Amino acid sequence: MSSEFSDSWSEWLLHRRHGGDAEFERSVRSNITRDADRVLDGARLEPGMTLADIGTGDGLVAFRAIERIGASLNVLMTDISVPLLEYVQAEASQRGILAQCKFLHGSADVLNDIDDDAVNAVTTRSVLAYVEDKPAALREFHRILRPGGRLSIGEPVMRDDALEVCALKKLVSAQPVDSDPFFSMLLRWRSAQFPDTEDEMRALPLTNYGERDLVRYALDAGFSEIHLEFHIDVLTEDIPTWEVFLNNSPHPLAPSLDYVLKTRFTPDEREFFEPKLRSLFEKGGRFGASRMAWMTATKPET
Ligand SMILES: C[S@@+](CC[C@H](N)C(=O)[O-])C[C@H]1O[C@@H](n2cnc3c(N)ncnc32)[C@H](O)[C@@H]1O
Repeated sequence: MSSEFSDSWSEWLLHRRHGGDAEFERSVRSNITRDADRVLDGARLEPGMTLADIGTGDGLVAFRAIERIGASLNVLMTDISVPLLEYVQAEASQRGILAQCKFLHGSADVLNDIDDDAVNAVTTRSVLAYVEDKPAALREFHRILRPGGRLSIGEPVMRDDALEVCALKKLVSAQPVDSDPFFSMLLRWRSAQFPDTEDEMRALPLTNYGERDLVRYALDAGFSEIHLEFHIDVLTEDIPTWEVFLNNSPHPLAPSLDYVLKTRFTPDEREFFEPKLRSLFEKGGRFGASRMAWMTATKPET
């Protein structure tokens, strides 16, 4: 990775999300482009409008919006990551759409660079999970929207992933001390990626909310016509190789398995654990669950 585009957000979005595998990257991109289209359908954009894509990342939703609407759409791309804003600026220039784009640095809950009633639509995809003060973010989205403007978000809900790790911790704690260490090592890996106690889960922005909370934040911020669909998809995992499995992680704040093995395991422990996990991986047929909240809402006209 070029150092100019490097922080933990850019490292995950541009590399770790697809574990360095070009074919898997194509499959990930096809899935997330479908997600972006779903978010944009909810935004109901039209020519001449202005969209604020909050936590724009590598520009997935914002660039897709320009592809769909064309040269008359203006897009404000905001992010907390300077390297990602530099990345999308370079990408916009390469696409010849720089004049339609503005790049704004800051957190989703403090959008000081955007005026009141400035935009026709606000989108986020997989951003609120990382925002400390989600009710404040929803208030900011409401403030910057013009009356009649649309909010459309697609957000993962990762509370159940954490609950699974909490359950694994309880199981491991109940094991006799001389039992097979595989499960306690499995826990060591999983608890590096998700909280392993309910207290920690409730304290962490990543896992301290559910889909109903998103509806409440939208209502409290003043939105109307709120519609939320919660989708749970339990699918056979499509990670193609062990190397991709090793180098990939489930969200930007989670270390890869390889990193956990390097930093939290002794060489002997790794030698014990990795072949067992690899053989389970190579048997195939593992399921992965994705839980997504798709919410649209309108800022009332008066
Ligand atoms: C999982 S990525 C999603 C990126 C993009 N929206 C997409 O759909 O591909 C999360 C993004 O949220 C940004 N982010 C994290 N915390 C943020 C915050 N407090 N405010 C705004 N953006 C934030 C990260 O820099 C990253 O670009």
